Amino acid sequence: KLLTITILGMALAAGSAQARDYDHVRFGVDVPYEPMEYRTADGELTGFDIELGNALCAEMDITCEWIEQEWDGIVPGLLARNYDAIMSSMTINDERRQTLLFSDPYITIPGAWFAAAGSELEEINEEALSGKSIGVQRGTTYDNYATDTFGDLATINRYSTADDMVLDLDAQRLDLVFLEFVVGKTTLLDNDEGSYKVVGEMVTEPEEYFGEGFGIAFRQRDEALAERFNEALATLKEDGTYDEIYEKYFGE
Ligand code: ARG
Repeated sequence: KLLTITILGMALAAGSAQARDYDHVRFGVDVPYEPMEYRTADGELTGFDIELGNALCAEMDITCEWIEQEWDGIVPGLLARNYDAIMSSMTINDERRQTLLFSDPYITIPGAWFAAAGSELEEINEEALSGKSIGVQRGTTYDNYATDTFGDLATINRYSTADDMVLDLDAQRLDLVFLEFVVGKTTLLDNDEGSYKVVGEMVTEPEEYFGEGFGIAFRQRDEALAERFNEALATLKEDGTYDEIYEKYFGE
């Protein structure tokens, strides 16, 4: 029995030392998160992440595929090999680096707090948020920060999807939601003009939660794959493809 275990252990060690050479990459992504990742009325999957991810794969001359996964299961799904990478507006930070390997950052997007236009909330601090109900997507940096900072004095409501959270703000079951500025802008400000407002400043700090931009996440042993993505990203930044996609979503 001991021998079997030893052999199994050696096989596992050999497996982990071997870098896999991917010609097909499966991305895990949590949809909807417009404009980063969402489906059009015709059901087509699109968004900044999707277009950039597809362009990276084209540049690397590999095929890629998108597999939908709710956010709070997105890291377990990668480790379970349901897909090979996560490209889903994932913020790079040290805590996540303990289990994941990140590409170079490909975009930086601040967070923001949104409330009903008629809300008396004007700024974000302990006093203003005391007794309030805050919506966040479960397992995000927004969840972690809100819980650590305001968890004792406010109610934190955690949602599996950003859509459910926005619906609860709409139904007045929440005082505030906290998420990516561009996502709140698209789903709240642009969608329902005049009904919502941003409260306080854009959020880019503290660094340990928000500071490093978004990256593609890989399993830690897939260093070679991450390196290929970094090279492709550099190429797309040089040849104008990156700017084209950026302009399409965030221009003007
Ligand atoms: N940037 C935040 C984080 O890394 C939220 C990302 C949520 N992404 C999504 N597609 N729902 O935690």
